[in-house]
Amino acid sequence: MSSFVPRIFSGIQPSGDLHLGNYLGAIRRFVPLQQSHDCIYCVVDMHAITVWQDPADLHRSTLELTAAYLAAGLDPKRSIIFNQSQVIEHAELAWIFNCVARMGWLNRMTQWKDKAGKNSEVQSVGLFSYPSLMAADILLYKATGVPVGEDQKQHLELTRDIAAKFNNDFGPRLKELGLDADYFPMTEPLISGPATRIMSLRDGTKKMSKSDPSDMSRIALTDDAETITRKIKKAKTDAEPLPSEVAGLKGRPEAENLVDIYAALADMSKDQVLREFGGVGFGTFKPALADLAVAQLAPIADDMRRYLADKGEIERVLRDGAGRARIIAAETMREVRKIVGFVGA
Ligand code: AMP
Ligand code: TRP
Repeated sequence: MSSFVPRIFSGIQPSGDLHLGNYLGAIRRFVPLQQSHDCIYCVVDMHAITVWQDPADLHRSTLELTAAYLAAGLDPKRSIIFNQSQVIEHAELAWIFNCVARMGWLNRMTQWKDKAGKNSEVQSVGLFSYPSLMAADILLYKATGVPVGEDQKQHLELTRDIAAKFNNDFGPRLKELGLDADYFPMTEPLISGPATRIMSLRDGTKKMSKSDPSDMSRIALTDDAETITRKIKKAKTDAEPLPSEVAGLKGRPEAENLVDIYAALADMSKDQVLREFGGVGFGTFKPALADLAVAQLAPIADDMRRYLADKGEIERVLRDGAGRARIIAAETMREVRKIVGFVGA
């Protein structure tokens, strides 16, 4: 029997502009969880610096991402919203997890392999140990569920491996201290529904990403109506009309991606979208998708601008959230230091 309070944690890096993949795969799914769970939503600025960030850009992106959280409907009274670097316990637990995780585990991470490629020698040590910090983010709060996009699944498996090895390595010590043998929980990834993996508008086999050099490959959360419409109209597709059943999307990644985006934005299943648009060509479907995207995203962009007009208020939200996060984090670290055997703890 698990004795863990159901708790949600998730984070996004303040690096580059937020895009539709971040919104549909993550932020939008954070909102309803606030009704049913204690939620902690973090702006992971320490993860962002695993690759070079211009300090002024990092500062601006941190405020922008917080504004996006608020504009999308995260409520700072109900949930804890903060930036990672304000709660130093994240770095402390990450160090301990660096000593729990094995080189082989981190070496297998596809995100590391993708980002480092053949140039691993010149990458920061932080980029390699990134998943230990992510495990620390989650386990500091003993979070039981983490809503993320599909690309983060492997990092969550690693988080469970770290939790299991910690619980196991320190098993006798946990007993001696009268602590639960399952000290850290086996956190569940919350990856479901359409849009857990939004693809590039230029190439249906690559995910939509902040780091894609082509601006036309992604819809930014701050794009205006005209830009959104232009990007959708120019999105790569094939010449066939849409099928009337999901099976007909097989081998048509670009078509499938646009249907996926429509389904997510309209809160429909792909079946329902195809029931409505089966047999219709992209000349009709794309404008319908563009209208829907503009109707959903424009109010968020407007709200973001409104929040960003008062930077002091955004900073206050982050400071308040950090204060509340620190209470939970400090309690965990008091125990963890004792478990590890540090003097003074
Ligand atoms: P990142 O931009 O890498 O910090 O990602 C922030 C969140 O957005 C994570 O939960 C990712 O899984 C999610 N995400 C990023 N790109 C996509 C995408 N193309 N489709 C769906 N979710 C995504
Ligand atoms: N690695 C995640 C990403 O790139 C961001 C992240 C950092 C995160 N810490 C987290 C996501 C904790 C969920 C929980 O998207």
